[in-house]
This record gives sequence, C-alpha cells and structure tokens, in this order.
Amino acid sequence: MLHVPATADLWWKNAIIYCLDVQTFADSDGDGIGDFGGLTQHVDDLAGLGVTCIWLMPFYPTADHDDGYDVTDHYAIDPRLGTFGDFTEFMAVARDRGLRVIADLVVNHTSDQHAWFRESRKSRESRHRDWYVWQDAIPDDGPEGVVFPGEQSGVWTFDTETGQYYLHRFYHHQPDLNIANHQVRDEIAKVIGFWLAQGLSGFRVDAVPFLLELDGIDAIDREIGMDPHDYLRDLRAFIQRRNGDAILLGEVNLPFEEQRRFFGDEDGDELTMLFDFIGMQSIYLAMARGDARPIVRALRQRPEIPDDAAYASFLRNHDELTLDKLTDGERDEVFAAFGPEPDMQLYGRGLRRRLPTMLGGDQQWLRMAYSLMFAMPGAPTLFYGEEIGMGENLAIEDRLAVRTPMQWTSGPAAGFTTAPATAAFRPFPDGDFGPEEVNVASQRTDPDSLLNWFERLIRLRKSAPEIGWGEYRVVDVGNDAVLVLQYCWGDRTAMTVHNLATRAAKVSIPLGVETATLRDRLGSASPIAAKDATASIKIAAHGYHWFAVEPAP
Ligand code: GLC
Repeated sequence: MLHVPATADLWWKNAIIYCLDVQTFADSDGDGIGDFGGLTQHVDDLAGLGVTCIWLMPFYPTADHDDGYDVTDHYAIDPRLGTFGDFTEFMAVARDRGLRVIADLVVNHTSDQHAWFRESRKSRESRHRDWYVWQDAIPDDGPEGVVFPGEQSGVWTFDTETGQYYLHRFYHHQPDLNIANHQVRDEIAKVIGFWLAQGLSGFRVDAVPFLLELDGIDAIDREIGMDPHDYLRDLRAFIQRRNGDAILLGEVNLPFEEQRRFFGDEDGDELTMLFDFIGMQSIYLAMARGDARPIVRALRQRPEIPDDAAYASFLRNHDELTLDKLTDGERDEVFAAFGPEPDMQLYGRGLRRRLPTMLGGDQQWLRMAYSLMFAMPGAPTLFYGEEIGMGENLAIEDRLAVRTPMQWTSGPAAGFTTAPATAAFRPFPDGDFGPEEVNVASQRTDPDSLLNWFERLIRLRKSAPEIGWGEYRVVDVGNDAVLVLQYCWGDRTAMTVHNLATRAAKVSIPLGVETATLRDRLGSASPIAAKDATASIKIAAHGYHWFAVEPAP
C-alpha cells in the first residue's frame, strides 16, 4: 500500500514549485508594476494549474540594481509591490487554496544602500564595521573569479572614505556580509524567524556556497576552527525549531562531489533541497544531440542523498541558463543548437532565452522536454510563464530578457496592467511569442493548449509520488536516444519513456517481472501487455510516455 501520510510530512519531495516575481506577475493599481494585490487575484490560476508551492523572488525594499537581489531592508516589503497588509492578504488566500509559499533569502550580501552597510562604511570604528569584510589590501588568499564576467572587474572595491577594500562576490554594490561575525549570524536568524512568523514555509537560499565562504576574512576574525557547514546546520536546526516543516532550498551550483556536503552528508541536517543544475544542463546537451546518454551519465553520477532530502528539477530559472558544468565543446554544441547568436548568450556560459524559442516553438519537442524534467527524480520547478510557453525579449539587457511581464490576455498590455503597454514594468516580446499569440486566457479555453497539458502533467506527477520517493534506475533498452526510467516505491512501479531523437523508435523494455501490463497515464497508448519479462513499445519522434507497471495478479 502506498504510504500517503509520509508524502504530506515530507511535502517537498513531491512539491510542484512555481517561481514568480511579484513585480512582473500582475499589476492591480495601474502603475505598470506588478504587486501583491495583483498576485492575489491570480492565486486561483496557480491553484488550478496544480502547483503546490509558490517561490517568491525578492520582494523586499531594494536599490534595484540587481532586480531585487540587492536588498536594502530585510524586514519590509518593497512599497512599489504593496503594503504588509497586501502581503498578508496574499498569504491568507494562498493558504486557503492549499499553497505553500517560500521566498528568496538573500543574505550573502546586502545592497550598499542597506543601513547596515551605510553604517559599516562610515568609519573603521563603526559598530557595524565587521558586519562586512574589509581589508587594507586585496589578500592573496582571497576568493578568485567574478560571477558576472564583463560586468564586474573584481571582487574587492576600494572605499575612499575609510581607505579599505570591501568584498563583494557579485556586483560592487552588493557587499558581502561577514558570517564569521556572530552578530551577523544572529541577525540572519532573526530575518528567517521573522518571515517564518509571516507564514512562509521556507526559503530559496541565494548563493549558498558564497554565503558560507570564509576566504578573504582574516583568520583572527574567524572564530577558532569555525566550520561554515556547522553554521548551515545551525540555521537548519533553527528553522526547524520555529516551523517544523519549513525547508531550505539552496542555490548550490557545484559539482556532484561537493553537493552532498550541503545536504549535510549522511546526517541530512543542512539544506533540505538543492537545485539540480547538472541534471538540467544534461537535458539541454541531450536535446542538442538527440541522445539521452548525457542524462544517464548525470543520473549515475548523482550522489546518494539523505532520505529526507530532495533535488529540485528545472529547465529554466530567472538567471542566464547556465551551461557552466558542461565542457567547452559540449557547451558549444548547446549554443549552436539553441542560441547561436552572440546576443542570445551571456557571460560565455549561458543563454538568455526561454525554452520555447530555443526549440523553435515545436510543441511536441517542448512537451517532451517538460515531461522529461517532471520525470527526473526530484521536485519539478517552473518559472512563471513556462506553463503557457512564453518567450523572451532579447531587446532587454542581460538576464532580464526572460523576466518580462506575465501574459494573461491578448488585450492591451497583455492583461498585466491597466496602464498602457509602454508603461508596463518591462516590454513584452513581440511576434510569435508576444501576448497576442501566447497568453493564459486563450489557452484556458483550448483543451489542447500547453496550459491545459501542464495541468494534466502536474496532476499526473502529483499522483506518482514514487518519482519523488522511490528508488529509480535507468533501464537499458539498447537505444541511446530513448531514456527509460523506472521508479519503485512500496508496491508501486512507474516507468517513463522519453525519445530525445527526431526519429520514431521501437524499443524492448526489460521489466524484471514475467508478466505485467503497462498502462499509459499521460498519453493515450492502449495498455501494453508484457511478455517474457519484456514490453515492446513504439515511441514517436520526441515522444513520451508515463506508464504504471501493473504486475499480473
Ligand atoms: C543569485 C540569483 C541572481 C542574483 C545573485 C546575486 O545567483 O539567482 O539572480 O543576481 O544571486 O544575489
């Protein structure tokens, strides 16, 4: 029997996460900027789609030089997005519709306009001086490499007022907080406690490896033997004390060997979830080649993770689509296939396009890609607009190209705002992916639309907890283009089949049981009876199937 109660306790293992930015989602007061009032009006759309957890990108007051990731006050709401009252109303509606809400926790750095930094930079004696990392000279053993090549000249900036350098792993206007300082650690805990008290179910933790990094901080200023992972453990324990089922979902784009530590190794007492950056990149390489082997390799190299932990799968997020874990040659293959123009690429490692434009609007391919992402062992994560196949606007600078306003209707300003389209927070794409062609309203009434397909996919994924919970294995079917994954949990077995190639295929799947029936749960294939422990199936070009494997009684 399926152990349903467990799926509620460890809700994140089967969550369907939906990332959105309040300012680009829906505007309720006609100023052209999305707000909590507008978001609240659309909670039912998200509940109807079936997502279970909304991830809010930063909605705090900001100097707005990094789209909200440069926070000026961790305890408040950006006034452009509404009041605390509006936030609370949104939370009440989300809770009523059964949706959890998590939010970005940006504490590796603050804005240089934050009161803490303004105080810190005033004098070397300031009481907040050591909240940031200051040095007389750029240390030899400090951190190396910039995150935004071309936009950042280094990670230390000289401050003329007090004649010292401060550390910033990101832009110069984002000074890094000093976690070796216990007051900083206490303050971060307070921020977490504050937002948990407002009803959040956890956080997407920004830039975790940088947050934990102590390089560049003078050894004498670090507490003797301080292990930053102890700190992460403390944070997890704290969050659990305040809210037993809250999670920490970390942005940790590191090689597999280093990921396990961030889960807390076998103790599983650090991050609850990590984004599967490597799995994501492997899917793009596999799609570029029409060959599933890169995904097989990524799945085989994945570390064992603690029982309660999970990966979050995704195909797109709000940043450049990073391909940094591929080799140069592999990355060039993906660039050639999905973003050949220099303007489509960013930082030499990523793409600033959304998936539907990369695939030339090919619906079959697009659905195969999302079906595959949902079939990866982990919790599927969507970036707003993916459910309707929104495209990007390359006329907008760098990473912001994919952060255009949500396209609700084909009407003026896409139903995003009552202000004229020219006053909308960011310009919409035009052409085939503009609001006239791609919008929620028209897809809602079309049973074959991507939106309605997603609703079915999400319903199916929710009813297949074995993907998040079970043991998975790659089934070898002797055809490199076809990826067959089998998941077993309790008495349930699910099997997904994805054809990465543009050629139809016929494969024989070894089942491990003598006789069984494969029931297609997403497509319309008739039940397949397996004989001699093998099922033979035909799969279309870019085809996909989700089977329940039912052994003969
Ligand atoms: C993370 C965010 C990115 C932001 C950076 C600095 O990588 O995803 O959008 O610019 O952190 O906060």
